[in-house]
Amino acid sequence: MKLNNKIAVITGGGSGIGEAISKAYAKEGATVIIADRDASAASKVSNEIGGATSSIEVDISRRSTVMAAAEQVISNYGRVDILVNNAGSRIIKGFMQHTEEDWDHMLAINLSGPFHCSQAFIPSMVKNGGGSIINLCSIASYIGRPNRCGYVAAKSGLIGLTRTMAIDLSIKKIRVNAISPGMIASPFNQSFAESEATGDTWATENLVGRWGVPDDISGAAVFLASDSAEFITGSDIKVEGGWLYGRARSGEIPIWDD
Ligand SMILES: NC(=O)c1ccc[n+]([C@@H]2O[C@H](COP(=O)([O-])OP(=O)(O)OC[C@H]3O[C@@H](n4cnc5c(N)ncnc54)[C@H](O)[C@@H]3O)[C@@H](O)[C@H]2O)c1
Repeated sequence: MKLNNKIAVITGGGSGIGEAISKAYAKEGATVIIADRDASAASKVSNEIGGATSSIEVDISRRSTVMAAAEQVISNYGRVDILVNNAGSRIIKGFMQHTEEDWDHMLAINLSGPFHCSQAFIPSMVKNGGGSIINLCSIASYIGRPNRCGYVAAKSGLIGLTRTMAIDLSIKKIRVNAISPGMIASPFNQSFAESEATGDTWATENLVGRWGVPDDISGAAVFLASDSAEFITGSDIKVEGGWLYGRARSGEIPIWDD
């Protein structure tokens, strides 16, 4: 097993990608702590996994609750080896329709949340000689997307935070990497996946030709947290079916002459 004896905190582990990562980590031998704002979703996933898995209610955008949760986790488990900053949310509105609250909310959850959680768990990693932090970025970390100004700004900031944390924490043997998902059919994107207008068309926009599923992300998350990725830090694995690098114009298909 790739994560034997590791203790991992996964924020937003109560749903979608975080749930898939939590289950994959447990399968690879890690002890998993699911930290989510939605306490009942987190405890449902924790019960499904069983064993030493537990859940804790935390709003990652509120620093004081993050610090209190981290204290509780460390007092229960002794240390944390892996932190997956996965919790996130998105507002879709026109640029001028974004209120100050919308903007602050997007930055608080998607950018400040990973900062608070990292600062809360890093002292334990330092004490134990190292660790691994994985930030869930996005295709929106690389390109503009319509009607998502707060989300795109925050996710773009998060890729920068990942890189600078990788440098600042390298002296304490903490690796910091990102995963950038494309269109994943989790509850986050359910309405787009099920909609007649976007369900099929978005699936064919990437090179693999289907919507991603939460489990597409867990393989990358296991790898980055494992010792196999010991020489990888400050990096990003894009799990988006090739969407960022290979979009054909409408009607253009690869020519293949047998
Ligand atoms: N689904 C996609 O297509 C997609 C694409 C790119 C990036 N992402 C990113 O992947 C991550 C996971 O997305 P998902 O699709 O699983 O979303 P999801 O909506 O299915 O799950 C998000 C989880 O985060 C929790 N959460 C939200 N705000 C929180 C807060 N303030 N404190 C603690 N927990 C909070 C929710 O309760 C939920 O359990 C997010 O960071 C998202 O931005 C998702």
